[in-house]
Amino acid sequence: MGDTETTTDVRNRIENARRRLAAARLDPPERALRRRLPALAGVVPWRPLAGAIPTPLEAIEIGGTEFLVKREDLVDDLYAGNKIRKLEYLLAAAECRRRGVVAFGAAGSHHLLATVLFASAIDLPVAVAVVPPLEPNPAIAVNRRVLAELGVPVATAAGYAGMPAAVLRGAAALEAPTLVNLGPATPAGVIGWVDAACEIADQLAETGRQAPDVAYCPLGTGNTAIGLAIGFELCGLPTRVAAVQTVSWSANNALMRTPVIIGAARLLR
Ligand SMILES: Cc1ncc(COP(=O)(O)O)c(C=O)c1O
Repeated sequence: MGDTETTTDVRNRIENARRRLAAARLDPPERALRRRLPALAGVVPWRPLAGAIPTPLEAIEIGGTEFLVKREDLVDDLYAGNKIRKLEYLLAAAECRRRGVVAFGAAGSHHLLATVLFASAIDLPVAVAVVPPLEPNPAIAVNRRVLAELGVPVATAAGYAGMPAAVLRGAAALEAPTLVNLGPATPAGVIGWVDAACEIADQLAETGRQAPDVAYCPLGTGNTAIGLAIGFELCGLPTRVAAVQTVSWSANNALMRTPVIIGAARLLR
């Protein structure tokens, strides 16, 4: 979502996504995990959002070593990045309960922006609760503009301690909202990245490449790293996940991750 886009650009892109997603709902695309575990359909609500899955797995060479890059930056036209795979599960769950969503986080959060864009494209009511920035930055400006253009209710908290109250204020603007998790990962949110690992396994098999020793990814909520680790195990790949922590220990630690790993593994049994 660029800084220079106009209101019409954003609305047009949502309108295009709306048409595409309505069609995808009637004729869902194939997914690597669902091919392996068709029974998952009866266990976890899912709704296709990403327009370009499978994303390419590209080889690059750095200093004589080959790296494979999973191009999640190409996953969708409306919004690309690692959030969309978990939103396919989180927004599907809200839709099943016929509820709107309240997303919460920092004012420049990509999770907030992705949630607002995709909730709008599937006509799910959405509100946000944000913590104001310490310093202005371009991501905050983009979020602010998109939220205003789409008329999304915004509740502001002075700090994270005030977030529960801000979430309640955001929720009051919607009928029966569902919270979209921003804190630690959730079992359902992890499944989207189990699918990505299965996709990687298929791409390795198709191209005859050896499985990498290590997969590097950032660790924020943990959805990405946990999903990849479970998925590699499911596909019998020897690849270990090395996650680089981008948030404080109090926001993500082994104690928080363990129930999510167990919960996600249960969903996949
Ligand atoms: C590009 C990118 N991918 C992944 C993550 C982390 O994802 P998750 O919240 O799933 O741990 C981050 C943030 O930490 C990120 O910036």
